[in-house]
Amino acid sequence: MPSQTNARTDLDAFWMPFTPNRRFKANPRLVHRAEGMFYYDADDKPILDATAGLWCVNAGHARPLIVEAIRRQVAELDYAPSFNLGHPLSFELANRISELTPEGLDRIFFCNSGSESVDSALKIALAYHAARGESSRTRLIGRERGYHGVGFGGISVGGIVRNRMRFGPLLVGVDHLPHTHDLKRNAFSRNQPKHGAELADRLEDIVALHHPSTIAAVIVEPVAGSTGVLIPPEGYLERLREICNHYGILLIFDEVITAFGRVGSSYAANRFGVRPDIITMAKGLTNGTVPMGAVAVNSAVYDTILEAADTPIELFHGYTYSAHPLACAAGLATLQTYADEDLFARAHNLSNYWEEAIHSLADARHVIDVRNLGLIAGIELEPRKGKATERALEAYDTCFDRGLLIRVTGDIIALSPPLIVEKDQIDRMVTTIRDVLSKIP
Ligand SMILES: Cc1ncc(COP(=O)(O)O)c(C=O)c1O
Repeated sequence: MPSQTNARTDLDAFWMPFTPNRRFKANPRLVHRAEGMFYYDADDKPILDATAGLWCVNAGHARPLIVEAIRRQVAELDYAPSFNLGHPLSFELANRISELTPEGLDRIFFCNSGSESVDSALKIALAYHAARGESSRTRLIGRERGYHGVGFGGISVGGIVRNRMRFGPLLVGVDHLPHTHDLKRNAFSRNQPKHGAELADRLEDIVALHHPSTIAAVIVEPVAGSTGVLIPPEGYLERLREICNHYGILLIFDEVITAFGRVGSSYAANRFGVRPDIITMAKGLTNGTVPMGAVAVNSAVYDTILEAADTPIELFHGYTYSAHPLACAAGLATLQTYADEDLFARAHNLSNYWEEAIHSLADARHVIDVRNLGLIAGIELEPRKGKATERALEAYDTCFDRGLLIRVTGDIIALSPPLIVEKDQIDRMVTTIRDVLSKIP
């Protein structure tokens, strides 16, 4: 039994996720409400949200259409299973999503989070190859610095050391591509960096080592978010697609962050003009209001699995809360809000202003790189000697005290404001960050 050395306070019981619990509880920051671009603390002090919550509140907070839809839905149909029973909103939402996905990716599987969408996608990829009579294709390829949530599938294909190292041998038969982050050649790039497409060729080496007949799928984030906004080099995703095509490997884009306008289009796949076989999504699907994830699957993959099934159930997979009525209502109202306000185009139109503003931080203190795409930015700081992450954490605390919510990962500031952000709010983000960086050691 661990000894209880600390006196219990009312913050003790909640074991906070991905949080330095002791540090946080010694100096807690709580928000009490949110609206539009702002959170508000207990004294109703506004905090400008430069991170759309956690990359998810793309339409801004407390949007009336979404709030009302959820309110109405809970009174009308609070819950219905999706196992062998249906409710109309689930079908309607799947149809709406499939209108936004790249052509052909029009079969939608629902789950409750990004992590579940990743594990679902990996299982679908394995089931597809088995259905084609190629059960030897079980190997999954992820990428260094990739983040695919926290399920065992996701951390296995993921490439973040700390997320993997305490959790046993993970899935067997997983390999990793090298990451594409290259400050020597690409620092201060605007949009896609020029150098690094050839890193996709490392997939050829992995294929040669294991033989194509053993490889099921490659999964990458088109833009890696959680490890600090790594934008794909020009030509890189195209090259991955070509190699996957050549060897019959499924390509999965994890778009949990990049979907729903973040990069100025519905999906990064559409923005880059590269069509994967499977897309995972979550976050912006319900504007962060009700947990929901989804997997968009090429109909050829779906058809193959259904046609090969030797039992009435074709895929032995699903969740109690798959297509939960509240999530479906929230999802439909969210997609309606995006369409009514043309928010994906708005993000695209603002992206030049965003780029100029963010790159004005190039000469700010401690900054060693600035990168951007759509309404995403990464501002990389020089780590303190022997104390990695401390500078960024201090920047986070100081920004928050000054009424600005940023996100930090390692020594990188990652920004992803709601797509309703105004130009003067972008200016304020940049001015505050510059000033904070000038003050912290
Ligand atoms: C690319 C990517 N995949 C998966 C996830 C996991 O999503 P969740 O936290 O909803 O499980 C995240 C979360 O940030 C993500 O960025």
